[in-house]
Amino acid sequence: LVIVLDFGGQYNQLIARRVRECNVYCEVMPYTKSLEELKAKNPSAIIFTGGPNSVYEDGSPLYTKEIFSLGVPILGICYGCQLIAHLLDGEVTPAQDDSAREYGKTKTYFDTSCKLFKDIPDESITWMSHGDYMAKVPEGFKLVAHSDKCPNVAIADEERGFYGVQFHPEVQHTEFGQKMLHNFLYEVCGLNGDWKMDEFAKQSIEKLREKIGDKKVLCALSGGVDSSVAAVMIHKAVGKNLTCIFVDHGLLRKNEGDEVEKTFKEKFDMNLIRVNAQDRFLGKLKGVSDPETKRKIIGEEFIRVFEQEAKKIGKVDYLVQGTIYPDVIESGTGDAAVIKSHHNVGGLPDYVDFKEIVEPLRDLFKDEVRKVGLELGIPEFLVWRQPFPGPGLAIRIIGDITEEKIKTLQDADFIFRDELAKAGYDKNVHQYFAVLTNMRSVGVMGDGRTYDYTLALRAVTTNDFMTADWAKIPYDILESASNRIINEVKNINRIVYDITSKPPATIEWE
Ligand code: XMP
Repeated sequence: LVIVLDFGGQYNQLIARRVRECNVYCEVMPYTKSLEELKAKNPSAIIFTGGPNSVYEDGSPLYTKEIFSLGVPILGICYGCQLIAHLLDGEVTPAQDDSAREYGKTKTYFDTSCKLFKDIPDESITWMSHGDYMAKVPEGFKLVAHSDKCPNVAIADEERGFYGVQFHPEVQHTEFGQKMLHNFLYEVCGLNGDWKMDEFAKQSIEKLREKIGDKKVLCALSGGVDSSVAAVMIHKAVGKNLTCIFVDHGLLRKNEGDEVEKTFKEKFDMNLIRVNAQDRFLGKLKGVSDPETKRKIIGEEFIRVFEQEAKKIGKVDYLVQGTIYPDVIESGTGDAAVIKSHHNVGGLPDYVDFKEIVEPLRDLFKDEVRKVGLELGIPEFLVWRQPFPGPGLAIRIIGDITEEKIKTLQDADFIFRDELAKAGYDKNVHQYFAVLTNMRSVGVMGDGRTYDYTLALRAVTTNDFMTADWAKIPYDILESASNRIINEVKNINRIVYDITSKPPATIEWE
């Protein structure tokens, strides 16, 4: 186990993901964890993350110096590097002038005899973001990297296994960052990379079988990646003792409900109850056009439908939740502004009669969940499914929702996705869909005047869905999608492509 000790930097999750990509298991822990608690975990290495503070300011997150006596290698990144210097009697000061302040891509020169920089070129680009300067390097450390502006870009005490870098090896802009992390884990810490998803899947299934035995388990299946993988994993452990309820609110993409049902019933022979509840949802949504109200109605109705079905089953022992590791890390830090309330099945436990929750994916990042999914034999189209919001097409139909509008949007969205897939371009974008605006305009078709809806196409590239760029889809793909939609789908006579990034726009239109 490697501990990623979190000092509040924005890339902390990314560090953990990068470590896992080296097939090494790690956990993120806040810097407020005591040394005793860290010790109890028996870590093989510790990574200090970056953070927004300055080590010399009052109230900055610090750590006890005794951490250096644990006898495990430590890597400090950015703030973490300065913290090493600060704690070990070096000196960190604000950069006096521009000379030592660095932001963005920076040419950096490395001492490649240092284990951390083994087998990388002695000159490459790193990503910097620091306004502080390591004025005095702590005793026992030598300088192992510098830039044109700054002599102290990386420090190392190879004897004790302590390393610090001012730049961020975890971000992609640092050309050999992943190799450096790999070097730290393998060359410095001597780890062997035994965190593999096939093993994880096997062991988890074994553990789940032991834990659950012949008790009853209930799962809300949405057809999304997380709930699908969680359900299949538990199914492999306990078979028909698992019952899945799939609430089809009628706001899914074209054919999606049938595909989900078919996959889980036929391929996995699972106990799946599909509830076709489109009428109920449409009834509640009638005349509603405010996005947050739509979300609220759908969230509540979802729970009610699920609850009704669950009652028929009666008391169960376990309820499955598809919680993944980023949810675990983020929980408890809920002070970010609510831009949109996200409806997921998180609210269920209060409404169902169960004894305990099982969360088989609690330790996994999204890409690891996908790997496990493939190991379990879940079809690629499900494993690689792009994110789809809980409220479904309801928030992609601007204004009020009718059955006809749903059908129009489903058909148009299907064609857009089909054209992207046919051109092999779907792998280049992370989320792509159509939006039915509530604007109508004049057109001409054949000899007649039309007055119909405008459809918007949206496609973005993104790493984390917090920020996103609009995708530069080739014109010919947009053209064939547009032609087909106009010809094949009723009620649409104009198509526009959304060319705003997030921020200032969001990915969805509502
Ligand atoms: P926005 O539109 O906020 O979307 O840029 C970011 C990501 O979140 C998804 N999204 C939702 N997911 N319930 C969900 O489960 C929601 O209400 C919801 N709203 C947005 C969106 O599809 C994108 O991936």
